[in-house]
This record gives sequence, structure tokens and C-alpha cells, in this order.
Amino acid sequence: MEIINRRARMSSLTRKLRRENKTIGFVPTMGALHVGHLSLVEEARQMCDIVIVSIFVNPAQFNEATDFAKYPRDLTADAELLTEYQVDYIFAPEEQEIYGENFSTYVYVENLTETLEGASRPGHFRGVATVVTILFNTMRPDYAFFGQKDAQQVAVIKRLTKDLGFDTEIIVGRTVREESGLAMSSRNARLSPEDRQKASIIYQALRKAKIAAKEGERNAARLAEIVREKIASEPLAQIDYVTIVDEQTLEPIEKIGENAALIAVAVRFGNTRLIDNTVINRKL
Ligand code: PAF
Repeated sequence: MEIINRRARMSSLTRKLRRENKTIGFVPTMGALHVGHLSLVEEARQMCDIVIVSIFVNPAQFNEATDFAKYPRDLTADAELLTEYQVDYIFAPEEQEIYGENFSTYVYVENLTETLEGASRPGHFRGVATVVTILFNTMRPDYAFFGQKDAQQVAVIKRLTKDLGFDTEIIVGRTVREESGLAMSSRNARLSPEDRQKASIIYQALRKAKIAAKEGERNAARLAEIVREKIASEPLAQIDYVTIVDEQTLEPIEKIGENAALIAVAVRFGNTRLIDNTVINRKL
């Protein structure tokens, strides 16, 4: 495994790999790797000849400078983990490699980025879309792997991949969960042991709604109410939103119809805000 810091080197290397007809799988991350990331790496390893993981804490997607400063960084520990997973290259650029002098070009994906997470994190998805575009441009991967837990990010990335004509297939990995059902996230480390246990209520609530939908409940407001009620039964949980939207357009829906519907939630435990989701009606 090689760690690459320079964008020019990453570009020329992937150009060479493409000439050799190697398929390139790319897993973008901000480091602080957990089992969720590693399951994406495993999937990439199975599907592709070459696996590249980027580790870049992207300043453009943080709303608070203090959050960016506090974000955990441990390249040595992450690299050790990735060696075990037979990753070929880590791309770990410094900030100025990505955002050079007088950087002024951003990617803004209309319609999908102002709701849900975008509503409480203005500019977040502009930062995500910009860095992912730069990374895709640098390595032109055949496949790029993202986690279902960040369902809105997935919708944004799929949109920009199509709109900007990248020849990259987006592969969405299932949400990996702790034993309690809590979705894996680097934020879980910030929860107190009690909150971490109680936060499993989010998964229980989503499951309850999914079962109700399977049993025939089509009314989105009623399904959302099932989720809200269940989460509210946990006094430590503060609901930010529970929303049911079309999985692709992220437009709110009233009735579960033919298209896949996303039940998306954001819930606070103390100062930690957690997101999770489930999809109903997805055709395989
Ligand atoms: O999901 C993340 O970790 C980040 O948003 C991503 C896709 C690596 C872009 O910085």
C-alpha cells in the first residue's frame, strides 16, 4: 500500500491503471475509520482490481470552524487498518492540494441540498459536492462507494455524477449497525455510554415504521408519526426531524406509491446529532 499526497501523482497513476484496463474502486472518507467505512472497502476490494481510499478532512463541508478543528485525525491508525483490508493506495492530500491559491469554483447541486441535513448545515453539501467532484476528476474511478446512512449525500452524489457526466458508477453500501442497532458513525464516540445505549431507539422506531409499511400502511404522515412516537418515548432523545421523502428527488411525499421512499431522521442526544434512515418500497 502506498500513501499518495499529491494530486498530480494520483492523476497520473490512475491514468496508467486505466490504460492497463484495471478497474478502479474509490472509497472517499474523512478518516477516523470505523466498521461502516471498512465494509465499503471490503465491497470495493471484491469488485475492483485497484482500491483507493481518500482520507481528507474537507474544510468546505463544515459549518463550524471548531468542528473542523476538533475532527479526529489519525492517519497512522487509519493506514494500519487499511493495510489489513488490502487497499492499494491511500490518497491523503494536504488542504492546499485540493483548495489551491485563490480557489473559487464550487459545485452546487440544486433542489437536493437545502432540505433535511442541508437545512441545519447551510453550505455543507456544496462542500461535499465540490470535494467529491475534485476527487472524481483526479482519479476517474470506475466505481465509487458511499454509505446508505448518508442517504441525502448519496442522492446528491448520484445527481452530480449524472449531471457532470462522470463515468463512475455509484455503489451504495448498506448501513452498518452496532449490536444495539445504532448506525455506525464517527459521531457515536461523542455519546455518553448511556446515550449510546438509548440511541438504539432510532433504529427501533425506523423498524416499527418499516413493518407498518410492509403490513400495508401507505399514509406517509402516519408512518412518520409511528417513528416520532417511538423516539419520543425515550426522554433523552430530542427529535430534529422525521421526514418521508422520495428517495431520489428528496421531495416530501404524502402517500407511499411506486417509488422508493426514504424515512429520514435526525435526533439529538445531548450535544450529538445523529442521523439515520430506512428505505421502503425499494425495487431490487
Ligand atoms: O461522507 C464523508 O465522509 C464525506 O462527506 C466525503 C464523502 C468523504 C466528502 O468529504
